[in-house]
Amino acid sequence: MRIAGRIVAEILEGLRSLVCPGVTTFELEQFASAAALKRNAKCAFRDYHKYPSSLCCSPNNQVVHGIPNKNPLIAGDILSLDFGVVYDGFYGDAAITVPVGTVSGAAQKLITATEASLNAAIEMAVPGNRLGDVSSAVQRFVESRGYSVVRDFVGHGIGRSLHEDPQIPNYGSPGKGVKLKPGMVLAIEPMINEKSHEVEVLDDNWTVITCDGGLSAHFEHTVAITENGPEILTRIC
Ligand code: MF3
Ligand code: CO
Repeated sequence: MRIAGRIVAEILEGLRSLVCPGVTTFELEQFASAAALKRNAKCAFRDYHKYPSSLCCSPNNQVVHGIPNKNPLIAGDILSLDFGVVYDGFYGDAAITVPVGTVSGAAQKLITATEASLNAAIEMAVPGNRLGDVSSAVQRFVESRGYSVVRDFVGHGIGRSLHEDPQIPNYGSPGKGVKLKPGMVLAIEPMINEKSHEVEVLDDNWTVITCDGGLSAHFEHTVAITENGPEILTRIC
């Protein structure tokens, strides 16, 4: 899982450096699939429940599961990139939200808060804590800043499958839920909206958007619970 996680991290960093005004998400998709092939990894999302791409690209009011297309990105957009691979039977899954050129202060604040909420959740991913400690850390962090937590999509256990038990909501109560033990691996993925938490799915059956048109950001890491604390498998050290 460390190898799968590192591959995902490297490819997401490559994608981050490619994002700029004029680039299309289709070009990002091509980069990601070629980069995975080069590393002998299989893209985890392609054909998963018939998802048509290897990468999810969700700009602005898109929350998750946006399908790459040939529309150029525009300065001021924010773009969520979600990518996963399977390597030697094990999965890695991570997401980042990046600014396209210069973005508004409000957009940058949402991005920063969403990433910080993921870090707050990861700090709680230690043996003896419960899942609710992880979930509530995200909720507390973002709601105190006036943002809202998407309810309809959640994080997940990960390992020999992309999605394993338990589900990991980004809201909940401290002290509740499954007790965390060394060896568990969690994909923690806050999806945070600028305004209301309500989302809907477009007619393509994939793209999730905010109902009110507000911005949404998404960060995700694959995190192993160890005796020595959380080990972020999708971060390049
Ligand atoms: N990180 C997302 C998830 O865990 C990405 C899945 S996209 C899909 O659900 F196409 F594979 F569904
Ligand atoms: Co995931």
